[in-house]
Amino acid sequence: MSKPSLQDPTKICVALDFSDETKVLTFVDSLSDKNLVLKVGLELFTLSGPELVRKMVKKGFEVFLDLKLHDIPNTVEKSAQKIADLGVQYFTLHLAGGERMIEMTRNGLEKYGANKPKILGVSVLTSFSEGSWRDTVGAVSMGAKSVSSSVLGLVDLGVRAKVDGVVCSPLELTLIRQSHPSLLTVTPGIRPTGSDANDQSRVMTPGEAKRAGANILVIGRPITEVKDPNVVIQNIRAELK
Ligand code: C5P
Repeated sequence: MSKPSLQDPTKICVALDFSDETKVLTFVDSLSDKNLVLKVGLELFTLSGPELVRKMVKKGFEVFLDLKLHDIPNTVEKSAQKIADLGVQYFTLHLAGGERMIEMTRNGLEKYGANKPKILGVSVLTSFSEGSWRDTVGAVSMGAKSVSSSVLGLVDLGVRAKVDGVVCSPLELTLIRQSHPSLLTVTPGIRPTGSDANDQSRVMTPGEAKRAGANILVIGRPITEVKDPNVVIQNIRAELK
């Protein structure tokens, strides 16, 4: 498994949160920078399915299929193989699915060799507040844990089960980096200076996230909802240099 190093350039991943296939394809064809990762999430995948993913792969982009798998080990293993067949480079599963689920998925992908997509583990969704997380964990275990201790525990579990990387909030990077200096980290909640925060409450600029140790920055609306996405991407690249 090749680990990211601080010398690797930070990648930019554009979240394609569109609910119309024609709009997505027009947007993707307008991108002049082909060195991007494109993220297809649950909404777009449910709308347009594997065929759209194949189109993105064919256009030469790296693709991140963000379906956050969480099921019995056999189902996740088999689904991950179908994802690998699409030719994508990254996909997500929930670390809370447990070590067995992750290990079976990883073993099931071995046959893809160099074409094996990277497994990214999701710890605690950033949409949870401390209160709603305590309620949820309390319902499961009759106890209560803070978000940060759960994030660290789940990331440790993922590393034991040999995930390739984790998805985390930029504010969790420093904490995760202390125990896992070379783990691949994928970070949403990024806002270039001057962009609207939209519904993201705890954000960092691309430069701040890079300095905190992010390897792949997931950015949606600041790129997809502006008049000239190519200018925004160029500015982000300049900031990351
Ligand atoms: O438009 P914006 O830059 O906020 O989009 C961020 C993307 O990252 C969205 O696709 C969102 O679903 C995803 N994401 C997130 N927070 C997480 C996990 C994924 O914002 N914890």
